[in-house]
Amino acid sequence: MSKFLEAMKFRHACKRFDTTKAIPNEQFDTILEVCRTSPSSFGMEPWRLIVVRSEKLRKALKSSCWNQNQITEASELVIFTTDNDIVRSDSPYVRKMFERREMPAEMVEKYLEVYGAFIKPLEEDEVLLENWTAKQCYIAMANAMTYAATLEIDSCPIEGFDKEEIEAILDLEYGHSVAVICAFGYRVNPQSTQMRLPLTTIVEYK
Ligand SMILES: Cc1cc2nc3c(=O)[nH]c(=O)nc-3n(C[C@H](O)[C@H](O)[C@H](O)COP(=O)(O)O)c2cc1C
Repeated sequence: MSKFLEAMKFRHACKRFDTTKAIPNEQFDTILEVCRTSPSSFGMEPWRLIVVRSEKLRKALKSSCWNQNQITEASELVIFTTDNDIVRSDSPYVRKMFERREMPAEMVEKYLEVYGAFIKPLEEDEVLLENWTAKQCYIAMANAMTYAATLEIDSCPIEGFDKEEIEAILDLEYGHSVAVICAFGYRVNPQSTQMRLPLTTIVEYK
C-alpha cells in the first residue's frame, strides 16, 4: 500500500488523547509547515492559526466545544481562524498577494479584475465570505491530519463548537472568525474500524 494510503488508514477521529505524551516541537513545527504550504483559492492564504497551549484557555474553551475531551487532552490544539477583511476586493493585501507572483503589471490588474468579480458577490454577505475563507482552512487541516498520520501522530477535526462563544473567548480581532479546530496528539484507545461508503456509491463516470 502507498505510504499516503497507509496514513489515510491510520488517521481516525481520535476522541481520547494520552495526556502524558507530547508531540516533539520539531515534529509539530512540520505539521504547521504543512498548513502553511497548503493551497488556497487564488492563493489568498486567509488562514490565521492559533495554537492554544494555555491550560487555562483550553479549559475555558472546552464547555463551548460541546465539552469534548480532545480540547483539554490533546498535546496540541490548533484553531483555524480566518481574516475575512483582508480578502475583500479593495484590500491592499489582495493586491500584494497577486504582485508577489512576479508577473507583468497588466497581468496583476487582470487577476484583480477576475478576483473582484469572484469575491464581490461573497463580500456582500459576511456569512458567504466567512464560508469561503473557512473552506481554505479545511484544505490545510486535511493536509495536516494526513501528514501527522505519517508521523504516527493522531488528530481529531472539530466542528462541534459554539462559534460565537469561542470567538469571544479568543477575543478575535474585528473581521476575524473561527473556521475549524484540530486536536493533535497520541491515542489512548485502539482505533475503531474505518467505515466508508464504497467507490461505486460515491463515484459516477459520465
Ligand atoms: C469537518 C469535521 C468536523 C468534525 N467534528 C468533529 C467533532 O466536533 N468531534 C468529533 O469527535 N469528531 C468530529 N469529526 C470526526 C468525524 O465524525 C469522523 O471523521 C467521521 O465520523 C469518520 O470517522 P473517522 O475519521 O474516525 O474515520 C469531524 C470531522 C470533520 C471532517
